[in-house]
Amino acid sequence: MRFRHILSALCVAAALQPLAAAENVITVDAKKPGAPIQTTQWGIFFEDINYAADGGLYGELLKNRSFEFPDHFCGWDISGRVTLMNDGPFERNPHYVRLAPSGHRDKHTMIENHGFFGIGVTGGEEYRFSLWARVPDGGKSKLYIDLTDNATMTEDQKMGSGSVEVSGAEWKKYTAIVKADRTFAKAHLRLWGDSKVTTDVEHVSLFPVKTYKNRENGMRLDVAQALEDLHPGVFRFPGGCIVEGTDLETRYQWKNSVGPVENRPLNENRWHYTFTYRYFPDYFQSYGLGFFEYFQLAEDIGAEPLPVLNVGMACQFQNGDDAHAPCTREGLQQFIDDCIDLIDFANGDPATNQWAKLRADMGHPAPFNLKFLAIGNEQWEQPYFDRLAIIAPEVRKARPEIKLIGTSGPNAEDDHFKNGWPAMRKLKADLVDEHYYRDVKWYQNWMNRYDDREFYTKDGPRVFAGEWACHDRGKKWNHAGASIYEAAFMTGIERNADLVHMATYAPLFAHVEGWQWRPDLIWYDNLHTARTASYYVQQLYMLNRGTNVLPTTLSIDGGQASVNPVAKGQDGVFASSVIDTPKQEIIVKVINTTGEAQSLTIRLTGMKAKQLEAIKRDVEIISLNCADYDAENQPGRPEVVSPKTFAATIASDKKAATLQGRIPAKTFQVYRVKL
Ligand code: AHR
Repeated sequence: MRFRHILSALCVAAALQPLAAAENVITVDAKKPGAPIQTTQWGIFFEDINYAADGGLYGELLKNRSFEFPDHFCGWDISGRVTLMNDGPFERNPHYVRLAPSGHRDKHTMIENHGFFGIGVTGGEEYRFSLWARVPDGGKSKLYIDLTDNATMTEDQKMGSGSVEVSGAEWKKYTAIVKADRTFAKAHLRLWGDSKVTTDVEHVSLFPVKTYKNRENGMRLDVAQALEDLHPGVFRFPGGCIVEGTDLETRYQWKNSVGPVENRPLNENRWHYTFTYRYFPDYFQSYGLGFFEYFQLAEDIGAEPLPVLNVGMACQFQNGDDAHAPCTREGLQQFIDDCIDLIDFANGDPATNQWAKLRADMGHPAPFNLKFLAIGNEQWEQPYFDRLAIIAPEVRKARPEIKLIGTSGPNAEDDHFKNGWPAMRKLKADLVDEHYYRDVKWYQNWMNRYDDREFYTKDGPRVFAGEWACHDRGKKWNHAGASIYEAAFMTGIERNADLVHMATYAPLFAHVEGWQWRPDLIWYDNLHTARTASYYVQQLYMLNRGTNVLPTTLSIDGGQASVNPVAKGQDGVFASSVIDTPKQEIIVKVINTTGEAQSLTIRLTGMKAKQLEAIKRDVEIISLNCADYDAENQPGRPEVVSPKTFAATIASDKKAATLQGRIPAKTFQVYRVKL
């Protein structure tokens, strides 16, 4: 008996689309679940670019809180008798500020912080102010804190206040809660001194009380929530090029990013001057968001942590192959130590290991269960191979349980790439990191990239697509239309899940007033976040990961069935399917990249008659329509692109369960069928 139902919701959505002539039949074979899908299959890549850390994910609202920027008052206005001092309580951040009495009752000695493009505060919310202070001559003083709107000179200027009483000549930490009486994106934080007593202040800080998981050195809630809502399986950090540094001195050094935040030394951010037309000379890394916080965040959002460490080379892009970096066994010892000590920081026993003890002292005695370590970011050719050949065996010998990830350079098809893979095979990398920021044409041509099993052999390293995004025309904004090609490309990753074990879109974050690179997955201003169409594409894959690949073919107009997109006459419809065994669910993903609605039949085969009879009739369809090619979600504005959920009914006979309908132009749909 054959039941036939129409996907009415789908048809309504497609009603106004001209219908292409081709009949696309997608056949899914549920009999033999194929390759397991790794829990790490879909993930995120974090790098401090576009004000992703300070001024972004990291909840700190004040810039240059320790007065360590090369311009020590960068981000601050000062007035009255303010002096910069350099013998403070934190040896790696020695500068602090002396606020001396103004000499007159009505005059004030004052410092005022601009935040990152202003300080975003929400009416009714509380903010935790803190600083380290002392009265150098002994005795007591009072410091006043105001949140201000400097655009007005009226009594409305203040939007929240507090104070702290400082006592004694010893440095101590003081805190105060300041409540904002209104919502404002561009507040300043003013700190002004006692008119009679000199006070020294250091590490002046302001966080929302409500951070992600309510941690004091925590993450901005809405930004971190956007990560949690994605449900990523792997979290790669801290870069990217910042791992390499502009030179070796400015590489990311994880050991500087752990321990008390007050004593984490400042590092330059290579992204402040890489693009001279997007130059942010006030862009530094406070390391307040450091490796402990990265591991903790990975744990909070349920993702495997994947740190990337320097291989003993500065950025080849910036320096060429002559990176003036050590390449002898002795010279590379500190890079070997960095790897092994990091594994111990994450996994070691606090009773026997100093780095594990530091982790425990920071509040996490249990291990972080680190499994992967990448060595080198976008390195290439012999200078890289030589260094990795020294570092990797040492790390493997010391900590054999960790999977090591090598890189194939910044391009996914050039000679460096082609030389990189055999070298990584020889060095026995467990995974190889590939990067491809490319346009629509490239994605169209490379949809079957991972079907090529001559290049990607059965044995040897698996693939980590560590940085990738479809960059489309014009200013490379987050065009919804480009994200459709990302969804289509991901079908090729999914059906090759035995080969590609991880894929992370990049970059992750951008501040609308301080970006160097776009498109990006999540945008924000000081008050709001925007989840892009690409975000929803990633989320749909992450929420519908499944446990095993199901063989899926596409036949067009009764032609030969074939995995797409190699089918001749492929008209821009892409599909892949998985089964979620514990949930007893078949999940089919279909993407129509064309500008026309396509007719579509999905046949689920390979099930026993009993199973087909028992199949739940209700199918959930989640649909992301990107037909408005340039549509983009922006912070603080209503969303214009987001997934919508429909219900449909599936039919079945003794051979198959069948859905028939149409998929609108430029649309990504996920079909969930309960068994
Ligand atoms: O994601 C931006 C940059 O792109 C990364 O830092 C680098 O790895 C790549 O070149």
